[in-house]
Amino acid sequence: MDLAVFLLVISIIILVVVEGWLIVALVRFRNRPEAHVRQEHGNNTIEAVWTLIPAILIVIIFVMTARTMDSLEMPGGDVELTVIGHQWWWEVRYADGDLVTANEIHVPVGREVSIDLESADVIHSFWVPQVGGKTDLVPGHTNRTGFLAATPGVYLGQCAEFCGLQHAHMRFYLVVESAEDFSAWVRRQQAPAREPTDPVARQGKEVFLQMCGGCHAIRGTEAAGTLGPDLTHVAGRLSLGAGTLDNTTENLRTWLRDPQAAKPGNLMPTMPLDESRLDELVAYLKGLE
Ligand code: CUA
Repeated sequence: MDLAVFLLVISIIILVVVEGWLIVALVRFRNRPEAHVRQEHGNNTIEAVWTLIPAILIVIIFVMTARTMDSLEMPGGDVELTVIGHQWWWEVRYADGDLVTANEIHVPVGREVSIDLESADVIHSFWVPQVGGKTDLVPGHTNRTGFLAATPGVYLGQCAEFCGLQHAHMRFYLVVESAEDFSAWVRRQQAPAREPTDPVARQGKEVFLQMCGGCHAIRGTEAAGTLGPDLTHVAGRLSLGAGTLDNTTENLRTWLRDPQAAKPGNLMPTMPLDESRLDELVAYLKGLE
């Protein structure tokens, strides 16, 4: 039987019996002049009964709960990925292929998703309220969570364990989409970065390799840093700075000009970029869809 139904039925029976006796006692033994109530002391039979019945119930509930918890053990999912928590962003790695992204998880609708959770620094917690409870990301220990999203849509995820100054700006998006859209997304993400053709964007690539490649990777270029998010397809993402800003051209410029103003305390330093270099860098990054 379903554990929840079983617990509900047991609780209702106990409630009715206990409250019923209470009402009977209230009515029958009201304070009346002629009443003379006999006090009971040391009735071993009653003592044994009201100790044994709850004890047996607790054993039954324990066994049923343990069996239910065991049956909830996560099976291997249709989609498997690893999410690594960083102060303060989410690294997302899919099991098959070269698929690495950040702050955004795409999954096909109606399929089992299984996620290994790791941390690069402190304890974080993975939480998308619409698909399930919180699971911690603990340094040195892999936790596992999973879900099956039944309705397409874009759901907001949030780090749910205080992890430092920008804990509140450690968000991500869960994008639940049709099987075709998901496959198309996977193919786009697996491909290396698009080579810029526009001269301004080409200049931006040079700026990127000089100033940003030590911390960020763009697959298909020499930039292979691992401190910050992989930016191979940054232009296709919904947000910048792990949900801090919407991913618009204007916001990208704001972010690059002074990441510390948008998200104080984050690891990205404010780089000395004049306006023309900012234009070039923005032109390059906006082309990386
Ligand atoms: Cu990560 Cu809070």
